[in-house]
Amino acid sequence: MVTVEICIGSACYVHGSNQLIPLLQTLIHQEHWQDRVTLKGAFCMQACTRGIGVRINGRMIEGVGLHNAKSVLFSEIKKELETVD
Ligand code: FES
Repeated sequence: MVTVEICIGSACYVHGSNQLIPLLQTLIHQEHWQDRVTLKGAFCMQACTRGIGVRINGRMIEGVGLHNAKSVLFSEIKKELETVD
């Protein structure tokens, strides 16, 4: 199982973290990852200046913004799924 945490802190909210959640829900659905990927909200990850706070199985993913979120998170989640399989 891969757990993706999205920061819901105020700095990340301003950068669009609330829009990241439906984007990820769509991605999970499209890739049929519903039984393999869990999405959670999280409080500030102390990474407010490095893009929207996202952790995948506890690993901080840096530089995530709405412009690149789909491609970055697709490849990071896929990579993580390969390591847990
Ligand atoms: S508010 Fe999201 S990392 Fe700080």
